[in-house]
Amino acid sequence: MTIRSRIAGVGAYLPARVVTNAELAEKVDTSNEWIIERTGIRQRHIAAEGEKTSDLAIAAARKAMDAAGITAEELGVIVVATATPDNTFPATATRVQAALGMTKGFALDVQAVCSGFIFALSVADNFIKAGQAKAALVIGAETFSRILDWEDRTTCVLFGDGAGAVVLKAEEGKGDNTDAGILSTHLHSDGRHYDLLQVDGGPSSTQTVGHLRMEGREVFRHAVTNLASVVQEALSANGFTSDDINWLVPHQANMRILEGTGKKLKMSADRIVVTVDRHANTSAASVPLALAEAVNDGRIKTGDLVLLEAMGGGFTWGAALVRM
Ligand code: ACO
Repeated sequence: MTIRSRIAGVGAYLPARVVTNAELAEKVDTSNEWIIERTGIRQRHIAAEGEKTSDLAIAAARKAMDAAGITAEELGVIVVATATPDNTFPATATRVQAALGMTKGFALDVQAVCSGFIFALSVADNFIKAGQAKAALVIGAETFSRILDWEDRTTCVLFGDGAGAVVLKAEEGKGDNTDAGILSTHLHSDGRHYDLLQVDGGPSSTQTVGHLRMEGREVFRHAVTNLASVVQEALSANGFTSDDINWLVPHQANMRILEGTGKKLKMSADRIVVTVDRHANTSAASVPLALAEAVNDGRIKTGDLVLLEAMGGGFTWGAALVRM
């Protein structure tokens, strides 16, 4: 028998305020047409003044826990993926832990920017497989609006705020690719590309928070190549081809990256979950937000084989193959 981490519930939270492309075009030299043509983004949600990453995380977590029918006492670990923590320390996950009333177990943050949720899922899956937790709450939560340079049209139009969460429960499986739960996770990073997508501040470098800076074209080029390679790695590791996948739930950075990955996988658009048009890029929150949307509207069903993937600053990139 093999221990598997089964996704028992999903949840999502988006801040109430919606900012359209037209609204941004009043502040920077851009247009609705340019943003839609180059990115597929039509709008994004932006956190209210005083609304913190932990607030978003807690709201998404509560929904995932309700869906899973689990209480805080039953959780062994909380892993929050975020690049926009409430404070430099403690971990935002500890604030979530306190708010949920979980006094046992442990909580930690994982930092892999847009790949954060895949990394956090892998960390939690490994705690479960190692027997260190029987149930885990994995959250991707971001307030990228706080680190954007709102005068830089090349970046400020691309991102949004939000949070998504999943509850994992330990379950026995046969140890083959017919099992339910996380079948495998595949993580990569290449720190040689640190400067291509980064925040130009931080406690030990500038003692400021800084703003997001990105060489968009370079990031785009690496994203298409790395994502195609890591999804193939996940399929091969489990003896699957893309024909076996019911749903691709990709990181939502740019519609053209999603289409590029779908094309390389020979997957038609009707098997790819897309939220980038409404959420923009919510970094670590994008994959769990997309997953929650497709589970909650009934597209993703129990037994479906789902491929999750993401790429972000570092560079970091990864994939997870999950049977729901
Ligand atoms: N409005 C109008 N014009 C703009 C805007 C804007 N918001 N932003 C840039 N431009 C201009 C540029 O200044 C440039 O003008 P120029 O030719 O006079 O110099 C022109 O548009 C073309 O710029 P490019 O950067 O070549 O445009 P491109 O087609 O590459 O699109 C984009 C830019 C959307 C950033 C794209 O490169 C991209 O999506 N890259 C991936 C980045 C990403 O998603 N990062 C997120 C984190 S990592 C990840 O999640 C994968």
